[in-house]
Amino acid sequence: MNQYIINGQHPLHGEITISGAKNAAVAIIPAALLVDGVCRIENVPQISDVTLLFSILEELGAKVTHLSEHSVEIDARTVHSTQPSFDLVRKIRASYYLIGALLGRFGEATVAMPGGCNFGVRPIDQHVKGFKAMGAEVTEGNFVHAVAKDGRLKGATVYMDVVSVGATMNVMTAAALAEGTTIIENAAKEPHIVDLANFLNSMGADIKGAGTDTIKINGVDQLTGGTYGIIPDQIEAGTYMTAVAAAGGELLIKNIIPKHMDCITAKLVEMGVHVEEHEDTLLVRRDQPLQRAKVKTQPYPGFPTDMQPQIAAVMTLAQGTSIVTEAVWSNRFRYVDELKRLGAEIQVDGRVAVIEGVEKLVGAPIQACDLRAGAALVVAALAAEGTTEISQIQFIERGYENLVGKLRSVGADIRIVDLPEGSYCSDPGACC
Ligand code: EPZ
Repeated sequence: MNQYIINGQHPLHGEITISGAKNAAVAIIPAALLVDGVCRIENVPQISDVTLLFSILEELGAKVTHLSEHSVEIDARTVHSTQPSFDLVRKIRASYYLIGALLGRFGEATVAMPGGCNFGVRPIDQHVKGFKAMGAEVTEGNFVHAVAKDGRLKGATVYMDVVSVGATMNVMTAAALAEGTTIIENAAKEPHIVDLANFLNSMGADIKGAGTDTIKINGVDQLTGGTYGIIPDQIEAGTYMTAVAAAGGELLIKNIIPKHMDCITAKLVEMGVHVEEHEDTLLVRRDQPLQRAKVKTQPYPGFPTDMQPQIAAVMTLAQGTSIVTEAVWSNRFRYVDELKRLGAEIQVDGRVAVIEGVEKLVGAPIQACDLRAGAALVVAALAAEGTTEISQIQFIERGYENLVGKLRSVGADIRIVDLPEGSYCSDPGACC
């Protein structure tokens, strides 16, 4: 079991290049199963969630060829199964995208209930609602078993009762090969939803309106293949912006889409961070005291919930009282006790955290409990006096490509060490 060792209080200086977006890649790779041909995907992030999805596709019979570090070719013409193994699927949340893809292409899917970060209840009722509206019979237990009547889904209108990223993408994927037109109303608008629609269209689909709350999918008979490049990761870029906000210094963050960063940039500027936007880069500088702020997470284009822990970590060092309201997930403050071990002053009451800024944080042994919680601990540790040891980093490696290498390249004192057997808590759930 590895651990990050961070010696804090080294301002960051230099350039960091952002990788492909995790939440786009984990939907696009399963969607490649829809393609009755070869698709080439570029700017694929090197993260463990992606590696796992490639193993699942190979297990189903697809041919996965790695052309370079970030480019892959997927040939789904040889797929022979619609039931991926339980052990692989339960490791990540995004495995639910296999349902939409297999049901859309083969008219049947049997997929174990997905795993993923523990934010309280994470239902998939809106996914199932969409599949049923398109004529699928769906049973749920440890597995979701879905079968399209007459072997092919039929276009339908699906009104989403909640704005759901996953349900919007899963129904859009399933509808690409359906008979007729599907309309998704009250759809989510995240950048990765637009990226998935653009990927499917580049493979031969006919999707309009992604990025708005109404998406129209005219089903086609076949997707034939093509080449597509995944967008840069909004959340990875935002995480490095909070790292320089906490530790101080100046960073040029390269390979970003400024529009996607607006909500994060606005909040950091409000807190006294200097941000300069250019064509595909952001210059971020923190050289004055941080100011308190209020933030409420919302679906895109609101402030992303996947940046909530990281901005909270910055607020622990801001002058005055900051307030964080988590409006998307019911239980996304599990990282707070770990920040308190570094000396942060935070009170949580349901979905609201009240943060009293402190002079400094001081290093200590702490544990990650999910992906973004882990990222927030790294952000805090970069600002903390002394040494911080972060365990359970496998959560962080799920969604950040080469985090240690990128941070070291801009002056952070961070390294990975291998913990001797038995020197760590074996039950992650019990830790934070
Ligand atoms: C996606 O999760 C992301 N995961 C999450 O990012 C992100 O936090 C979330 O969207 C919100 O932006 C991936 O893309 C793999 P939702 P998802 O469906 O699809 C409720 C990260 O750190 N809901 O938009 O699971 C649900 O309970 C991860 O990268 C239903 O009620 O989120 C929640 O309150 C963590 N029924 C809200 O909607 C449903 O069928 C939003 O969930 C589906 C969702």
